[in-house]
Formats: sequence, structure tokens, C-alpha cells
Amino acid sequence: MPVASDTTAVAEAPDVAPASSPQSDVVIETRNLSKIYRDFWGRRKVAALKSLDIEVRKGEIFGLLGPNGSGKSTTIKLILGLLFPTSGRVLVFDQDATETRKNERIGYLPEESYLYKFLTTDETLDFYGRLFDLSGAERKRRIDELVNLVGLQGARHRQLREYSKGMTRRVGLAQALINDPDLILLDEPTTGLDPIGTRDMKDLILSLRDQGKTILLCSHQLSDVQDVCDRVAILHQGELKELGKVSELLKVQDVTEVHARGLSDAAKTEIAEVIRRHGGTVESIDNPTTTMEDLFLNIVRESERRPGARRVSAGEGTNEKVAAESEGKS
Ligand SMILES: Nc1ncnc2c1ncn2[C@@H]1O[C@H](COP(=O)(O)OP(=O)(O)OP(=O)(O)O)[C@@H](O)[C@H]1O
Ligand SMILES: [Mg+2]
Repeated sequence: MPVASDTTAVAEAPDVAPASSPQSDVVIETRNLSKIYRDFWGRRKVAALKSLDIEVRKGEIFGLLGPNGSGKSTTIKLILGLLFPTSGRVLVFDQDATETRKNERIGYLPEESYLYKFLTTDETLDFYGRLFDLSGAERKRRIDELVNLVGLQGARHRQLREYSKGMTRRVGLAQALINDPDLILLDEPTTGLDPIGTRDMKDLILSLRDQGKTILLCSHQLSDVQDVCDRVAILHQGELKELGKVSELLKVQDVTEVHARGLSDAAKTEIAEVIRRHGGTVESIDNPTTTMEDLFLNIVRESERRPGARRVSAGEGTNEKVAAESEGKS
């Protein structure tokens, strides 16, 4: 895999022994991992990561979540061995992250594209396929498969300098998958994608997990993380602030949700009575709302199915139609 150099990297001896065993299902393990960026003279500049302890397990989608500058990209670069830890250790597939051979099993989508602008998608993928020593036949098969997977069939012979941000992101993803990696590191995978591209990317990430891949993605798009991740770590200023299963972290304790269809007003009143009789408090009995993503995707898909069928003139409400569509989905 192509490796970018980092001039601020400072190599120091790892001070923690590896803990994972060959049988373990732990794919990435960070132990007391810290990174201090230093300036040209070796002076301490930024403490980007402070004593991070996380484990990413085989077959899961793990999200690294945090505001700008919280250390997400730094963690990914340490996992790839593009940076050296200041202290602590990263193990990937039970090997030290600085062991670059392990990168043959890793796919990496960086946050900034570094692709060659004068190559087409096919040429780009062919180039990376060669780096991984794939045979001509294998490259051809893989490139066709990946171009379809990321939806660039119509643009595969155009130079990347003509691509939109979203299209460039798609080529980046195809490049990250060229070696059929076991572990996929995605740094802000949905940046620059429109809602349809975002949904496609999320579906793709889920399908990669279903194929048994392990995925670590970092993002500050909360809805992306909520929709696809099994577990998340929340970083702030280089410190781990929360770690756990998304379903557990988001569960609102002590509130019960019931979804029912076709209830009359009388029935709702009666249900509220029952709740009160059992000592509960009724906070709301209302129609659920859909998400903006579902609303948008429904409208675009319908417009593609029946071009021109849906038009909104000034002052005209569309809420009933949208509500009906969304209810049909929920
Ligand atoms: N090469 C570098 N030299 C000096 N400081 C750096 C370098 N790279 C990152 N940093 C600093 O380390 C901290 C963490 O940066 P990092 O890129 O890991 O954050 P991030 O969580 O990925 O943020 P974003 O959401 O903006 O991508 C920031 O304070 C950043 O300024
Ligand atoms: Mg980043």
C-alpha cells in the first residue's frame, strides 16, 4: 500500500507488551497509545492522543467519533504505521503496527484524496492492483467488480480531474478495496457525498461487514456512525471519553416505546389511562416522524421512477403524501 511519510513522526521504544493471543478475535489493539507531534527542533507541539486503549474485534464496524482535532486521523495513521507512537503500542493482526507487511491485508481510505488526477478510474485501479502484484486477469476482474460496486460505470474512462468530490470519494473507496482487504480503515468516508451517495456508502460498509470484513471508520457525522457502527469510541482532545455498543449507549432507560397502527382516539385515551393506572407517566402519544434522510431518498427515488410526476408549487403542502410514504416504510 502506498505510504505517505510524516516528517513530525518521532520513534520511541514501545513500553507495553503485546496482550493479544494468536487465537484472539481482536484485529486492532491499542495499549496506552499516545502521540505527541513535535516541531522541526523536536519540541513538543500538540498532544494529539493520550493513553488510548481500544480493541477492534473481527467482523465488527467500529466507529471513532470526535470533533475536529480530537485525534481520529492520528489513530488511523498509527494503526497503519504511517506514524510512530510517542508511547504505548498498536497491534494489528497480532503484529506491531510498524510491521508494514500487515498493510497488505488492510484497505485505507484517507480523509484527503491523493489520487493522480490525470488517470482514469480504470487506470487508477490498475495502478494500485499492480502495487499489490495482482495478475492482469485478476486486476481486470477486480476493477470491473469495484467500478460496479461504487457506481462509477458511466465515468470509468474519464480523468479524475473532471470528477466531482463525491465521485473522487468513490474511486478512493474502490482503491481501498483493490486488495480484497480483511481490515478496512475509512477516514470520513461520507465527506463530499450527497444523501444518496451517503446511503450507498453506508449500505456498502454494512455489506462489507456481512462478508466478514472488519471496519474501522472515523467520522464526525453522527448519523453515519449511529446507522452503521456496532461499537463506538468517542474521543475529545485526544482522550477516550466513551466506549461501547451503539445500541446500549443510545438506549434511553426507563422509557417504553410502543408502535401501533390504526388506533382510534378512544383507544389512545384508553391506553393512556392504563399507563397512568400502572403508575407510569404519558409523555406523548403521537405519530412518529421519519428522518430527513428517508424523506429525501423517498422523494429522489420517486422522481427517478416517475419523472415529472411530483411537483410542488408555492404554497402547496406535500406533507400528507410524504407522511403516507414514510408510514408505509416504518
Ligand atoms: N502533522 C502534524 N503536525 C502537528 N500537529 C498535528 C499533525 N497532524 C495532526 N496534528 C494535530 O493533532 C491533533 C489531532 O489531529 P487529527 O488530524 O488526528 O484530528 P481529527 O480527529 O482527525 O480531526 P478532523 O475531524 O478535523 O479530521 C490536532 O490538534 C492537530 O492539529
Ligand atoms: Mg481527521
